[in-house]
Amino acid sequence: MKTLSQLIKMKDEQTKISMVTAYDFPSAKQAEQARIDMILVGDSLGMTVLGYESTVQVTVEDMIHHGKAVRRGAPNTFVVVDMPIGTVGVCDEDDLKYALKLYQATQANALKVEGAHLVSFIQKATRMGIPIVSHLGLTPQSVGVMGYKLQGGTKEAAVQLIEDAKAMQEAGAVLLVLEAIPSDLAQVISQQLTIPVIGIGAGKETDGQVLVYHDLLNYGIDRQAKFVKQYADFSVGVDGLKQYDNEVKSGEFPSEAHTYRKKIMSEVDIND
Ligand code: KIV
Repeated sequence: MKTLSQLIKMKDEQTKISMVTAYDFPSAKQAEQARIDMILVGDSLGMTVLGYESTVQVTVEDMIHHGKAVRRGAPNTFVVVDMPIGTVGVCDEDDLKYALKLYQATQANALKVEGAHLVSFIQKATRMGIPIVSHLGLTPQSVGVMGYKLQGGTKEAAVQLIEDAKAMQEAGAVLLVLEAIPSDLAQVISQQLTIPVIGIGAGKETDGQVLVYHDLLNYGIDRQAKFVKQYADFSVGVDGLKQYDNEVKSGEFPSEAHTYRKKIMSEVDIND
């Protein structure tokens, strides 16, 4: 498993860091088999596996349920688990309670939080010993306010984002995720921070990249963002299911090869 100091070393040596989301045992197992550096149990699971419109409905129980499955599937990969909306930034005391619960239950290596307003939470969690990843730029939990659109696109917004990123590092964040921002801005932030910066829709100059499993494998996805590249096509599963349906109906399945042929009924008196 990559440690935080190894991830920092990768940044220093300009070795790019790969991260992918996973939400269950098989996807985590695949990510570990593929030797991806880090797994994110993102609250994007609200859309990808629970069928919600956004991440806003996701609960801490959902994150624990999926986080535990991912840990079982990838015991040797650095796993980050998202803190869902409402579990952080609402009530100071609850913040740490939820963070501790999530951290302990999922055995994550770090937790991720969205937004620049969480300086004091990051400080407190860090003091308690919980590594925190900060997520800036487009933060999907705030979709109701900011929508799904490019962030940091004006001079003022870019300057603010640079300041926010520095404040996150100063507060103790161990990594930064930057989503949907101009690539030159992401490049400057990555250069100015000592912690690794992982981009999604932030160009190629960040220290690493993260993509959503279901997006990059085209698994149950209706729309793709501009920044997604599709690496495989899991929609082929529908063809398999159609063929199964046809073969059940035609009687072709199950064949001899899929049938237990031990003769038992000659020994059974069905009138007993
Ligand atoms: O929830 C998630 O999958 C994320 C990534 C998009 C970074 O936060």
